[in-house]
Amino acid sequence: MNYSAALLTSNDTPLLGVNIDHVATIRNARGGRYPDPVVAARLAVEGGADIITFHLREDRRHIKDDDVVRLKEALSVPLNFEAAVTDEMLDIIVRTRPEHVCLVPERRQEVTTEGGLDVLGQLGRMKDACARLSEAGCRVSLFIGPDPAQIEAAALAGAPCVEFHTGALANAWWDADVGKTEHELLRLKTGLSLARSLGLRTHAGHGLALSLNLPECGPRPVGPSSTAIAAAQVDIAELHIGHALIGHAMFVGMKQAIADFKAEIVQARHAAVSAA
Ligand code: PXP
Repeated sequence: MNYSAALLTSNDTPLLGVNIDHVATIRNARGGRYPDPVVAARLAVEGGADIITFHLREDRRHIKDDDVVRLKEALSVPLNFEAAVTDEMLDIIVRTRPEHVCLVPERRQEVTTEGGLDVLGQLGRMKDACARLSEAGCRVSLFIGPDPAQIEAAALAGAPCVEFHTGALANAWWDADVGKTEHELLRLKTGLSLARSLGLRTHAGHGLALSLNLPECGPRPVGPSSTAIAAAQVDIAELHIGHALIGHAMFVGMKQAIADFKAEIVQARHAAVSAA
């Protein structure tokens, strides 16, 4: 990969939040203590992760309560605590006091977070959660689709940030479906510009991948990777990436995986800034 360390110092580069949930998924497959997501988080920080992201799910399928305590003790970079809007989770967050919180929808049966929050449909509850978490000193972001009604509701709820769900864009890229990728990209761009006009800081994540180590079966995506496509959107201040990054680390190690993602993010952003 054509990697330029000098570019990494640019303020134009989106921050990389590394989600370490899937290290815990592998650990939990055998019910023991190895591999440890806290060790993975430390290596990710040594490799250049700006933020460590994790999702404490209601069913504790990957990250567990004890991991949250140990992550807080072990790390000096900001923690981004993803959680459902439940009383139990809000209590844990207020006790933990992570720097950042991302509120997400959660359904027990889903394999991963399948869609964005319905902020509009539960505005009162979202306002209360944003106020409580802000009071505890956490910067709150709401995980939503790039849907104008939800963006406006997020601003009304008092969240300073939104994270746009890039799952549909990432899936279209995986399927090598150029038309669908362009359609989803247009939705993302429109959402970003509305969110910025409302004064919201904008993040993105879910399903983002690189073109390295593509599987040998099925369609082969061409052109820029889903990570590069997202990084090229100059309004995006943070990208949160987990599954594909941890998967890539299986082949190249955690630090190299971070370096590969960062290099692609930096190059895509610089190309976009230079072209503007
Ligand atoms: N952002 C949010 C809010 C998420 O819920 C997740 C998945 O936990 C991610 C980003 C990362 O998604 P992925 O693991 O597909 O990269």
